[in-house]
Amino acid sequence: MTTQAGPTDVDVRAEQVFFEFLGNPPDVEPYASYRWFHEHAPVFRGSNGMIVLSRFADVDAVLRHRDMGRGEESVQHLTDLPPRLLEPVMRRWKRTMVFANPPLHTKMRRKVGAQFLPRHVEAMRELVARRARETMDALADSPGADFVTTVASPLGGAAVADLLGVPEDDRAELARLSPRSMGVFDPMTATSDLEAAAAAEITMADYFADALEERRTAPRDDLLTRLVAPADGDPLEPIEMVAAAANLTNAGNDTTTNLLSNSMYALLTHPEQLRRLREHPELVPRAVEELARFDPPLNLNPRTALVKTTVAGLDLEPGEIVVGIQGAANRDPRRYTDPDALDLGRDEGVSLAFGGGAHFCMGAHLGRLVMSEFLTCLITRFSGAEPAATPRRRPGHNLRGFAELPVRLSR
Ligand code: HEM
Repeated sequence: MTTQAGPTDVDVRAEQVFFEFLGNPPDVEPYASYRWFHEHAPVFRGSNGMIVLSRFADVDAVLRHRDMGRGEESVQHLTDLPPRLLEPVMRRWKRTMVFANPPLHTKMRRKVGAQFLPRHVEAMRELVARRARETMDALADSPGADFVTTVASPLGGAAVADLLGVPEDDRAELARLSPRSMGVFDPMTATSDLEAAAAAEITMADYFADALEERRTAPRDDLLTRLVAPADGDPLEPIEMVAAAANLTNAGNDTTTNLLSNSMYALLTHPEQLRRLREHPELVPRAVEELARFDPPLNLNPRTALVKTTVAGLDLEPGEIVVGIQGAANRDPRRYTDPDALDLGRDEGVSLAFGGGAHFCMGAHLGRLVMSEFLTCLITRFSGAEPAATPRRRPGHNLRGFAELPVRLSR
């Protein structure tokens, strides 16, 4: 496809299917739309020029291509914010890893990554396992309680807070601020909610600026301390550390919570796979990858051409936007055998659930550890799990998760 080509009939129909899928009620699964894209329009151009991809090979190629990076679509809607809110938000946005391009992105990945190594995550295993046991026991003690609020959210939230070293007393406030603050970078946020979102972003940044300052004088064994006092003696700039702490909090909370909930739901609706896992606990690592492939928390991932380039057969001009439907790529029949089947023994490589290329999820090792301790707890401590009432998906098909998932665990 070249940038000059006008819309075809397939483009027009595909765009309709795309918006229908995004606008569907939350309990309508997106998989029929994903199958349609694979069969009829694996590459299409929307009327606004945006190109949408659904094949694994194409989405993967775009995520990995060095000419494809981050554009400004996450802040273009902020024009009406008063300068006292806009300026601090924009200063940090420019320094936030997930929105940054090289060379700043490369520097931040290297410096934050050096303080968030597999051994730092492995050191958290016992603590995560204990939290998994405590939250799952609480669920078993109140049969039919909500898995999201009893297990997924506290377990996911605690993992990120433990990593950073956020004291227990501050966690509830951060858990309230984080989703609000993310709204400022979401073009779908209603204009009337933007000021509150910006204020939450600023409050959260102030919190981390104070916490980092405190670690400077009173070091602890946590990521915030490692950021202010790295072993190489060459820390990030203060604003970059604040942006990194907020980015880790925002990127880690909801995703882990949703992956836990989506996985619990997948197991409840595929009891034979849960039985199989119980009989073959050695499958836990594969099960983590398969559950993430099967129902990933993040379904869409945009990239912008930073220069004139060719990728996945597309000739792109600078500024052109390509959206990869990661959730569809994970169900690509060209990549996976029987892609709509949940197969906890599947051994067909990692999916795109954690992204790919330069922005590959920085917390994937922690997310995987939380998932693996949750699954181990589920199959070793409990003899059964069943749905207790109709679950409720949270709205939206990009960030997929549950608002409510009542579960009954038996010991
Ligand atoms: C467990 C479920 C998780 C899933 C499914 C997930 C998924 C993703 C995906 C798809 C991306 C790529 C975004 C992009 O391409 O722009 C990403 C990036 C990121 N994730 Fe995760 N994530 C999870 C957990 C975590 C955790 C626990 C943390 C931190 C504690 C974390 C921190 C990050 C950060 C900082 C980035 C940005 C990396 C960059 O732009 O270089 N994630 N994640």
